[in-house]
Amino acid sequence: MRSPISSQFLAAAAAVLSASQALAASTPRSSDADDTPLPVIIWHGLGDSFNGEGIQRVGALAEAIHPGTFVYSISLAGEDSSGDRSATFFGNVTQQLDTVCALLAAHPILSTAPAVDAIGFSQGGQFLRGYVERCNAPPIRNLVTFGSQHNGIVEFKACGTSDWLCKGAMALLRFNTWSSFVQNRLVPAQYYRDPASPAYDTYLDASNFLADINNERLLKNETYKKNIASLENLVMYMFEDDTTVIPRRTAWFDEVNGTDVTPLRERRMYKEDWLGLRELDSKGGIHFRSITGEHMQIPDQVLNDTMVEFFGPVKSKAKGIFESDEL
Ligand SMILES: *[C@@H]1O[C@H](CO)[C@@H](O)[C@H](O)[C@H]1NC(C)=O
Ligand SMILES: *[C@@H]1O[C@H](CO)[C@@H](O)[C@H](O)[C@H]1NC(C)=O
Ligand SMILES: *[C@@H]1O[C@H](CO)[C@@H](O)[C@H](O)[C@H]1NC(C)=O
Ligand SMILES: *[C@@H]1O[C@H](CO)[C@@H](O)[C@H](O)[C@H]1NC(C)=O
Repeated sequence: MRSPISSQFLAAAAAVLSASQALAASTPRSSDADDTPLPVIIWHGLGDSFNGEGIQRVGALAEAIHPGTFVYSISLAGEDSSGDRSATFFGNVTQQLDTVCALLAAHPILSTAPAVDAIGFSQGGQFLRGYVERCNAPPIRNLVTFGSQHNGIVEFKACGTSDWLCKGAMALLRFNTWSSFVQNRLVPAQYYRDPASPAYDTYLDASNFLADINNERLLKNETYKKNIASLENLVMYMFEDDTTVIPRRTAWFDEVNGTDVTPLRERRMYKEDWLGLRELDSKGGIHFRSITGEHMQIPDQVLNDTMVEFFGPVKSKAKGIFESDEL
């Protein structure tokens, strides 16, 4: 029988220590504890819930790929899946993030893990990035985002024909995106972003979430930058045929201003490194990946390969330190 997971993580923490001692002595050694996979945190997207069918399948896959993985699916309403789904549309993202930070920091297993890996679907991706920037305790090692709106959206076409909750939210959104009433209550409004002028100035003034976590305002938050640079990998998947998220290149942090496309690496925010992305990139930590298909159509094999490559035991962290560690 497997030992209780919490003690596995004490063992994992010990493994990190012993790995660094081993490194100092130039005599790498291994033990069973080295094989303990880091926990995986999942943040679902708009209209989904912590225990949605797809999310459960992803969790099961993470456990199948790296047996013993503790999977934690973020919920803003405890066991109440309809409350959690509702929180994907309604709420103040700053307050939601505070809640998530408190939940993870107090969690008996996660808080004893040396680090965690994370996977964010759609808006869950930029929220997990916000978690890294604002809290990061426990720290995220590798963050994988699928079709996330890192650079905001000018439009979201996410509602099913009879999804009244979604339609109600979107109607309210169109009513007055930038009022503090809407910014305090409508989740997608908090990552709306139109770079055309003068809309961009309104965004800088009024955005409750994205303008802050993207460090776009004059006063930059150095903690955000330091925390993003502290990731080992940021893996950003874009759906090539995404018609739900507009513009789809937001998934790669590209700037799409009308018909002008500026890839992340050519943007001022990257060149001046407002967010630590250039520093992360300079150590090979940024991965732009794409998937043929519509928003959130993720082939199992892509999930499988991604988990093999980026999740698992702490020792895979030694990639680059132990040069021979190929995954
Ligand atoms: C992951 O993909 C590999 C290669 O195709 C396959 O052998 C393996 O069974 C897959 N694992 C799971 C858990 O699906
Ligand atoms: C920067 O962000 C950190 C983490 O959220 C926060 O504690 C700090 O007050 C922020 N600093 C500024 C100057 O806003
Ligand atoms: C969202 O919540 C934060 C934290 O409570 C608060 O400072 C901010 O003003 C709220 N945003 C809006 C637009 O009301
Ligand atoms: C978008 O393009 C317009 C027109 O060229 C320009 O005035 C504006 O500054 C651009 N926005 C950003 C955020 O670069």
